[in-house]
Amino acid sequence: MVTKKIVILTGSGVSAESGVATFRDQGGIWTQYDYRDVATPEGFASNPGLVHSFYNDRRSALPNVEPNAAHIALAKLEREVESSGGNVTIITQNVDDLHERGGSVNVLHMHGELSKSICTNCNAIRKCNVPMSIETMCSECSRSGSLRPYVVWFGEMPRFMDEAMDAILSADFFVSIGTSGSVYPAAGFVSHAHAVGVATMELNLEPSENAHLFSDTQYGPATEIVPDWVEAVVRQM
Ligand code: APR
Repeated sequence: MVTKKIVILTGSGVSAESGVATFRDQGGIWTQYDYRDVATPEGFASNPGLVHSFYNDRRSALPNVEPNAAHIALAKLEREVESSGGNVTIITQNVDDLHERGGSVNVLHMHGELSKSICTNCNAIRKCNVPMSIETMCSECSRSGSLRPYVVWFGEMPRFMDEAMDAILSADFFVSIGTSGSVYPAAGFVSHAHAVGVATMELNLEPSENAHLFSDTQYGPATEIVPDWVEAVVRQM
């Protein structure tokens, strides 16, 4: 099959071997925090200081982690497919910047980005280079206390959904990597792909909650199975 348009959904499992915590595995983020306290608008309203420190801690760890072989392989896939006239779209649930630092360019962060802030007064989205607090001033509108992490919380609308759905519904191949398939709308993408006849594959450490919906599956650590899969796709081109 000459693959022209590949859409790849990634979750925290693709960054796990870089040292970035997943959410629902043993020792995962949601085994240490109640998501209602740190990843909902209600949690932010009732204790913004706790939410800022939760994201400040995760943001400050970013410079100390590096893209792994899976991120680098996906960037190579994007370059190879593009050079043959096709394209690769990564739709990531991750808020880290490891896909970009690994060389990927066409990346849609549907759950936002840890490295950025958004102003609730003027909607400016800016790189966040200092720990954020309720006093931090917006560099665009100079309002203090209006910045929040540029991260999509539970109950909020993910970003880039139109672009994501357009990509999925016109893809030749939909691949899910490193996600438990437990959070919608991302967990429903495979059903949309399948409904229009797009070939689907799951690459994960273990079968996800919607593994049965994929026409092909491969299991193992992302740094092993993703580079092998990319090599196989590139060889077929
Ligand atoms: N290689 C491949 N897959 C792995 C690895 C690895 N080294 N380590 C873990 N995994 C897999 C796990 O088997 C699991 O299926 O990655 C998945 C991680 O699942 P979750 O912890 O649920 O993370 P994720 O699917 O990204 O969560 C989705 O939930 O809380 C929200 O916004 C948050 O974006 C996140 C969303």
